[in-house]
Amino acid sequence: MTGKLFIVGVGPGHHDHMTFRAKQAIEESNTIVGYETYVNLVADLIEGKEVHRYAMTQEVERAHQCIDLAKSGKIVSLVSSGDPGIYGMAGLIYEILAEEGWDRKIGLQVEIVPGVSSLNSCAALVGSPLMTDFAVVSMSDLLVPWEIITKRVEAAAQGDFVIVIYNPASKKRIHQLQDTRKLLLKYRSPNTPVAIVKGAFRESEEIVLTDLENMEKHNDKLGMITTVIIGNSSTFMYKDLMINPRGYTSKYNIVEPQQTRK
Ligand SMILES: C[S@@+](CC[C@H](N)C(=O)[O-])C[C@H]1O[C@@H](n2cnc3c(N)ncnc32)[C@H](O)[C@@H]1O
Repeated sequence: MTGKLFIVGVGPGHHDHMTFRAKQAIEESNTIVGYETYVNLVADLIEGKEVHRYAMTQEVERAHQCIDLAKSGKIVSLVSSGDPGIYGMAGLIYEILAEEGWDRKIGLQVEIVPGVSSLNSCAALVGSPLMTDFAVVSMSDLLVPWEIITKRVEAAAQGDFVIVIYNPASKKRIHQLQDTRKLLLKYRSPNTPVAIVKGAFRESEEIVLTDLENMEKHNDKLGMITTVIIGNSSTFMYKDLMINPRGYTSKYNIVEPQQTRK
């Protein structure tokens, strides 16, 4: 029997935002593997299937088990929140397979099913903050040294990129976001718009629109399912919306299009 490994992005957490292919892949699978919270997000789709739930920080064991199960002939879905190719499990699976000398043409079948990442879902909830160039940085220094993360934040700040911050803080880890804020204030005005989105499209969803100066008043919203979006020099707030202008006004009259400049 030929097995297969799907690495499935289930989106932010509500089925309305899961892709058709993600549902199809889970349905086609007889074995489901994933971090407990992600498996719970698809509980209604996996009745009667073999399910392996993992606690956090067991990624390497989880990846090996998925590969072994698929090699033994099972159709496996490894479920990941958002997109599995963005701070997800796709990388580790491919790293392990590459170490084994895997050949995708003749070896184990692997399919990555893309999902709606947190940056998409959070941006949609707060307005249009990602209309121009943006950078994405994770504050987690578990696998990447803090000095490298700081270097990336500083480069993004210098380049006037909108910045999306994943893993902004945990109970034990808050100084990273505080240091990042201080660093950004070297380059950006204190009234630069900031969006803090917790639990996008989940029952626990909470959204705060604030600015660089005041963002620390909302540290209670930070946690394992919070994403922070920091505007650039042209981002503005309009009635609870964070808007990053695409640049049309430099070329067009957007109020009276017939008056458009040449
Ligand atoms: C390990 S990363 C996984 C990212 C995921 N693969 C994605 O594409 O969204 C975990 C981080 O994603 C963000 N995140 C995950 N779910 C979220 C949600 N529902 N709302 C806001 N941010 C979320 C948080 O920043 C969290 O710390």
